[in-house]
Amino acid sequence: MSVMAHTDRVLSGIQPTADSFHIGNYLGALRSWVELQDTHEAFYTVVDQHAITVEYDPAELRQRTLVSFAQLLACGVDPERSVLFVQSHVPEHAQLAWVLSCITGYGEASRMTQFKDKSARDGTGAVSVGLFTYPVLMAADILVYQATGVPVGEDQRQHLELTRGLAQRFNARFGETFVVPEPLILKDTAKIKDLQEPTAKMSKSLPGGCVMLLDDPKKIAKKIKSAVTDSETVVRFDPETKPGVSNLLTILSALSGRTISELESHYEGSMYGPLKVDVADAVVEFATTYQSRTNEYLQDPAELHRLMELGAQKAREVATRTLADVYNRVGFVAIK
Ligand code: TRP
Repeated sequence: MSVMAHTDRVLSGIQPTADSFHIGNYLGALRSWVELQDTHEAFYTVVDQHAITVEYDPAELRQRTLVSFAQLLACGVDPERSVLFVQSHVPEHAQLAWVLSCITGYGEASRMTQFKDKSARDGTGAVSVGLFTYPVLMAADILVYQATGVPVGEDQRQHLELTRGLAQRFNARFGETFVVPEPLILKDTAKIKDLQEPTAKMSKSLPGGCVMLLDDPKKIAKKIKSAVTDSETVVRFDPETKPGVSNLLTILSALSGRTISELESHYEGSMYGPLKVDVADAVVEFATTYQSRTNEYLQDPAELHRLMELGAQKAREVATRTLADVYNRVGFVAIK
């Protein structure tokens, strides 16, 4: 019997590599994760195994994994409706990654631009083989669940192409085994830019212009109020010539549900000050609820662990079936 999914199933992952998710993570991705639960069978994972591909601190990773899991719950990922889990709790990812790595070309892996960028930027000369094979682990994350769709940002498109290629290659060589997943480029997701360099995507690697959702609300407001704008005085959405103002409008529109053109008319004749105040208020209001929900989960470690176990168990129900099928097809001898 085939283990392929017959419903629309999404899988996505987020790395526990920061003390907090930022507003760009939420508006650009996590908000859609929550919405996709209504229409899809959803698998969401905190990818701790990806987080060890670069320099890191073990105690910090442990804490960040818990905080990431709590934040996903706080955002509205529902552990009853969806499968929310930590990657290392499901050993089948790493097991499948090994098999997939044996059908991945060395040259093919060498063409991954994210690896090339990251290894070029690394000044320590300590680039790991794990960082090199990371896209294969990502492919395993997706294929082990027979996901039909993968909500990802533009930066992950090449990894998803690799994933599709590996699924097709495996299927061609060993028989139909994997669903070939489609990238799910979500309409209406906001691409949030850095507040200081509004032509760059918001990222924790540019801390000055990045709004961390677990930061002190005063700090959040201050960062927004010092956002870079431009020397005009008109509130108009034009990402080309007015990237800073457009970014503020995008954030406010996403959080308030008001359209960009509504906002443009609202601020007609006003300077940037009132817009900044309103964006700051909206983000602070959102962050305040987000923080109290996150803290509720963190203050109940027993419940957090129960939910992690529940997620791991539901994930493994699917993952073990795919892996058994794969092991059989590649010619591993089964016992029991
Ligand atoms: N590589 C992704 C990132 O850095 C995270 C990730 C790991 C992921 N496994 C995944 C995303 C599977 C989607 C599907 O953002």
